[in-house]
Amino acid sequence: MNPFNDALLRSLAQQHGTPLWVYDAATIRQRIADLKAFDTIRFAQKANSNTHLLRLMREEGVVVDAVSRGEIERALAAGYTAAPNAQGASGIVFTADLFDAATLETVVQHQIPVNAGSIDMLEQLGQRSPGHRVWLRINPGFGHGHSNKTNTGGEHSKHGIWHTDLALALAAVQRHGLHLVGLHMHIGSGVDYSHLQQVCAAMVDLVKRAGVSVEAISAGGGLSIPYREGDDRIDTDHYFSLWDAARREVASHLGTKVHLELEPGRYLVAESGVLLTEVRATKHMGNNRFVLVDAGFSDLMRPSMYGSFHGMSVIAADGQPRATVPTVVAGPLCESGDVFTQGEGGVVLTRDLPEARVGDLLVLHDAGAYGASMSSNYNSRPLIAEVLVDGDAHRLIRRRQTIAELLALEAL
Ligand code: LLP
Repeated sequence: MNPFNDALLRSLAQQHGTPLWVYDAATIRQRIADLKAFDTIRFAQKANSNTHLLRLMREEGVVVDAVSRGEIERALAAGYTAAPNAQGASGIVFTADLFDAATLETVVQHQIPVNAGSIDMLEQLGQRSPGHRVWLRINPGFGHGHSNKTNTGGEHSKHGIWHTDLALALAAVQRHGLHLVGLHMHIGSGVDYSHLQQVCAAMVDLVKRAGVSVEAISAGGGLSIPYREGDDRIDTDHYFSLWDAARREVASHLGTKVHLELEPGRYLVAESGVLLTEVRATKHMGNNRFVLVDAGFSDLMRPSMYGSFHGMSVIAADGQPRATVPTVVAGPLCESGDVFTQGEGGVVLTRDLPEARVGDLLVLHDAGAYGASMSSNYNSRPLIAEVLVDGDAHRLIRRRQTIAELLALEAL
């Protein structure tokens, strides 16, 4: 989806240049509202960690997950603290499978609860900070994702504490007097309903096996969005009802109230964002018509990394309708994989698009999640700017990086 009209995108391109990320605040608020049935929505900020979006999340009552020291600092900069909110959920939770020394110090300093994906983390945290609040991230032995790279469960995944090691993890918690908050499962991005049922059942089973009380369970993230026209939108009420049933079963087993968290990244921000690019060259390679735009996989990596599909539209510079033609859309990077129309395994595909010409704008849709946050400086290209549209207002929320800033790191 593209939440913006052509006139606005034209004027933003003129004002800020291209390539440009543009996000829509109203879409984010809507997606948050879809999930309000959950006690706590914890935004997996890896999907988009711009501090202005984090502030928007905070204003809407959403808390955050952080997976690095940088993400913790971003959350703090956006006004989050580790303190529990009215529902008892900490403003920030740190989720990882290991600690580096500096991050361990940061979570201790700010008393940020840790969602531990390894027993070594529990040992290191327990020695440094007895009594610290922890979650256990459990790998239930199966997973599912939109690609193998986003499947985070099963024995080929490095994530979480293996389910049969639960007793060892609980022993480490006890040995160090750690405070067990809850159990967490995230089996991957793009989970379908059959896996969802499986993971809910695995959570109930886990709590029963644990033989200890927990205050909360977390459903992880993984809610998909309709990237292609005709893709179903996830039924968030159904999603909630499955997890709510699991929560009730856990609560009745424990005889206490149990708090239910959800940890979406993509669902909250993907549809809010577009990558706005300008067509800079067109050419034919044999039978293929190539349209070359000024953004590459250094900006939006998903097609090259996973063969992901992003909807596209063309804003003709002359405002005239164009015939539809099969098109390969590619970027400026010095690498053949820098193609936005590709399938898994790097196979180059064509897309039927209005015949784009030099000077037109090409819009890549649903790029608000894992777009800017996965960008790099490959080919020494500066990170691009980000704009947030909120109703009739719009503002720059990250300026474009300069080449001088790239070089500055090496001026030793
Ligand atoms: N919780 C945990 C522990 C996670 O590892 C992730 C994503 C999430 C929540 C949020 O998942 P989501 O709701 O966004 O699916 N770069 C890939 C996605 C990688 C996801 C990594 N972990 C992509 O562009 O599709």
